Amino acid sequence: MDHAPTLDALSIGPLRAAKPADVDALLDRVFGADRRRRTAYRIRDGMTALDDLSFAALDRQGRLIGSLQCWPAALDGTVPLVLVGPVAVQPEYQREGVGRTMMERMIAAADYIGSDPLVLIGDPEYYGRFFGFEAHWTREWTVPGPVERRRLLARVPKGQTLPAEGHLGPRR
Ligand SMILES: CC(C)(COP(=O)(O)OP(=O)(O)OC[C@H]1O[C@@H](n2cnc3c(N)ncnc32)[C@H](O)[C@@H]1OP(=O)(O)O)[C@@H](O)C(=O)NCCC(=O)NCCS
Repeated sequence: MDHAPTLDALSIGPLRAAKPADVDALLDRVFGADRRRRTAYRIRDGMTALDDLSFAALDRQGRLIGSLQCWPAALDGTVPLVLVGPVAVQPEYQREGVGRTMMERMIAAADYIGSDPLVLIGDPEYYGRFFGFEAHWTREWTVPGPVERRRLLARVPKGQTLPAEGHLGPRR
C-alpha cells in the first residue's frame, strides 16, 4: 500500500461491507496461510460469524485496512460465549489505533445488546490493558488444541461469572 491514512480517514462499520476475499487475504497476510490450524479456528469450527459483532476498517478507496470477527462459542456446548478474533490490521497501519477502535466498537455493541461473555486467544498485554480481558477465568478450561494459558482470556460483565471448568468449543 502506498499511502498511510490516519485513523480519521478510515470508516469502521459492519464486516459485511468488506469483500470476503479481501478479509481472507488480510488474514493470510497477517497470520499466515496455515492460520486455519490454530486452536481458535477449532473453537468455532462450523460456526458463522456474528454479524452484529464483526467489523471492518475501510479506507476512502474501500480498501480493507482491518477486520474483527466474532463467533458463537460455548463451554461444554451449552454455556454461551462469544469468541473474539481474529483481529487483524494491515502491517503498514498497525499501532495507529485501528485495532483498538475496532475492539472498542465491538465491545460497545456487545455491551449494548447484552452479549454473552467474550473470550479470545491473544496477548494479555494488549487485551488486558485496554479492554479488561483476564486469564484467571479460564485457568481450568480445556480447549481443542494447544494454547498458552496466559493468552486464553475472557471478559465478563460486572456481576456475572463463568464456570471454573469446562471445554471451550463451538455452540451446538
Ligand atoms: C494486534 C493488532 C490487532 C493491534 O491493532 P493495532 O491497530 O496494530 O494496535 P493499536 O494501534 O490499536 O494499539 C494501540 C496500543 O497497543 C499496543 N499494542 C499493539 N499490539 C500489541 C501487542 N500484540 N501486545 C502488546 N501491546 C500491543 C501498541 O503498542 C499501542 O500502545 P501505545 O498506545 O502505548 O503505543 C494488530 O497489531 C495486528 O493485526 N497484529 C497482528 C495480528 C494479531 O496479533 N492479532 C491479535 C490476535 S487475534
